[in-house]
Amino acid sequence: MEFEEQKALICLAQKQDWCDAAAACGVSVNALKALIDSLEQHYRQAIVEPGDPFQGFTPQGARILNWARDYCLQVSEVQQQFGDASRQTLVAELLERRSVSPKRLCAPGPSPQDLRWMAQAGLHAPDHGGLHPWRLLEFRPEQRQALADAFEAEKRRRDPLSSDEDIQRAREHAIRPPMLLAFIVSPQSKTQVPVREQWLAAGAAIGNVLNAAHQLGFGAIVLSGERCFDAGLCAELGVQPHEFLAGFISLGSVAQVPPARGEKDPEAVISCWTPMARTVDLTKAATANHLQSVAPTPRAAS
Ligand SMILES: Cc1cc2nc3c(=O)[nH]c(=O)nc-3n(C[C@H](O)[C@H](O)[C@H](O)COP(=O)(O)O)c2cc1C
Repeated sequence: MEFEEQKALICLAQKQDWCDAAAACGVSVNALKALIDSLEQHYRQAIVEPGDPFQGFTPQGARILNWARDYCLQVSEVQQQFGDASRQTLVAELLERRSVSPKRLCAPGPSPQDLRWMAQAGLHAPDHGGLHPWRLLEFRPEQRQALADAFEAEKRRRDPLSSDEDIQRAREHAIRPPMLLAFIVSPQSKTQVPVREQWLAAGAAIGNVLNAAHQLGFGAIVLSGERCFDAGLCAELGVQPHEFLAGFISLGSVAQVPPARGEKDPEAVISCWTPMARTVDLTKAATANHLQSVAPTPRAAS
């Protein structure tokens, strides 16, 4: 049975009317009847009861109709699976991104042009008001020893009993990665965009930077550690009083692929809203719980 014939049967069963079924199939009534005729000749059985208007299916016709429905269902399931699989490839790169620890990175790191593309990807992240409340600070190879000195000083400040090994490790954090960036969150106060949205924009940007690095074929990881909270180190790096040193991004070629990890479950983060019963006093609920903590702040027009 041809697909057109199956479709004609199914439309006729749904509409129970020659004209409506023909319209649903996108053919003329005569063409629809010709399709049913050709099926009747093929099976040498009457498929529809004689008469006009449409009188229903014969028992044999009903069996053929059921078969056609099953077949179409299976075909559409297979098409759906193929469709899903080919759509999944559109996000495959994103789903494969994972952090690569500095120990698994090697030269070469990203080129200056790669860095510009990664920054551009960051700038294409959602950003209320287009404030780009973040910036990247690059530590070029010739500055790494000075950075290692700063890391060492911070470690000694934080832990006066640190061993030679601890100090060596702190210095290596500055020297090892082929490319090293600081990611600085730089919220703006002279704007109506709430600070929490600026933080989210910065978070989205860091995600885009990491995804761009991955798509360019590099491994990357963001690490903060306690040194990011050290006022002395922040001052030495030029982090302004209103800014935050969110972390250091290490980048390079992947020398060693990190161990496999399991699939992430999208259902863990997706839920459907169910409206609250109208009897709940929303004002009281808001005062009592979290709505209080997200009380509206002046908002800029979007
Ligand atoms: C701003 C920021 C700071 C982070 N700091 C640390 C850190 O100090 N130590 C750590 O183990 N992971 C830290 N992470 C998490 C890692 O970068 C990484 O995302 C995590 O190990 C999960 O690996 P995945 O990215 O492959 O899922 C930080 C992530 C972000 C976004």
